[in-house]
Amino acid sequence: MPLLRVLAARFDGTRPFGGLNVVGCLNVTAETAVLAGVLRAGGAKVSLAASNPLSTQDDVVAALAADGVAVYARAGVDRATYYEHIARALGKGAGEVGGGADLVIDDGGDLVSTLHDTRPDLVKRVRGGCESTATGVLRLRRMVAEGALGFPVVAANDTPVKRIVDNTRGTGQAVIEGVLRSAGILLAGKTVVVAGFGACGSGVADCARGLGAIVVVTEVDPVRALDARQRGFRVLPLAEAAAIGDVFITATGSSSVLGAEHFAVMRDGAILANAGHFDVEIDVRALLGLAVIVEPAVRPHADAYSLADGRRLLLLAEGRVVNLVAADGNPPEVMDVAFGIEALVLEWLARTTTTPATPQAPPNPLAPGVHEVPAELDAEAARLVLAATGTLIDTLTPGQLAYLDSWRLGS
Ligand code: ADE
Repeated sequence: MPLLRVLAARFDGTRPFGGLNVVGCLNVTAETAVLAGVLRAGGAKVSLAASNPLSTQDDVVAALAADGVAVYARAGVDRATYYEHIARALGKGAGEVGGGADLVIDDGGDLVSTLHDTRPDLVKRVRGGCESTATGVLRLRRMVAEGALGFPVVAANDTPVKRIVDNTRGTGQAVIEGVLRSAGILLAGKTVVVAGFGACGSGVADCARGLGAIVVVTEVDPVRALDARQRGFRVLPLAEAAAIGDVFITATGSSSVLGAEHFAVMRDGAILANAGHFDVEIDVRALLGLAVIVEPAVRPHADAYSLADGRRLLLLAEGRVVNLVAADGNPPEVMDVAFGIEALVLEWLARTTTTPATPQAPPNPLAPGVHEVPAELDAEAARLVLAATGTLIDTLTPGQLAYLDSWRLGS
């Protein structure tokens, strides 16, 4: 993770987070542990909760805890424990004094929403945060629409660099890896239906096509649907695609995308996987309602649902995010860039914001709301990764600069 290595060395010298509490709600993986180390090198006191009850790598939790990080996560916890872990990462129990966050780093929005819902006493202290996922950014925008978001949050998910490296290539490959590991199939010649052609869905579609699959895309957005068609994918309504797919992968950020009406027409042996952050895209309850027999773990992270007419559907990772549950998540090179951008954003927030609760502190220059990553931070991340990987690029000549600066020069 070369970018994070460079940033750790820089933060060790500049200590941008000296005395600050940074609370994260992230998939607790080896890559996340590296990020925690980088923030700590910059002086942060880091508390961490999991952003997904099934993606936690327990060996990483043990290593972080041994290293002095306040980490609240365990693989396979129930919903109540999951939220209790977030509460504990934020500090003492609801209503008690102490704890709290100066900066937050969220993945899906559960930390920010829990903080506002259950610990309004802690909101004032938060200088700002960043959000790693498309789902989380959508949630934050809904909070803003209701006037509910009490501090600035930077949409780290939305930068061009993150999209290129993480959402499209990283998630695309890792989702297919999760499907292959848990279903144990050959994709070549199979019909793969990808629901949703955003940055992640398009990466999944590209990766499946690269392995020889016939890829069908379903969309509700006309621009994305056209994009998929222009890239040579077949675009169909899901109701039609349901009858021809061998593998279904949801990547929409929406809910109940695959439901009873689709299960009713699917082929025997169809495989169902979700790439979205939350486990709401495949209506697992409806599937359970249709099933006469459920055979858990017929393969690792694969449960077989037999229907009354004898067809069997294979649900991967319980409908949770398949790249993190059935595989190791996005690879380190990818998380290096995604987390590197977030570390740069947190450094920028630490430098440019103050704790609003201090009466003599100047007002926070960033208003509560969702903010874009400053373009220069994204470019800095790209420059640092290129340098760390020994990738050289060209610079404009003075003549080219003059040409690009002038509106008078044409041909
Ligand atoms: N999100 C996707 N892949 C991840 C990983 N490997 N670690 C943490 N968060 C992730």
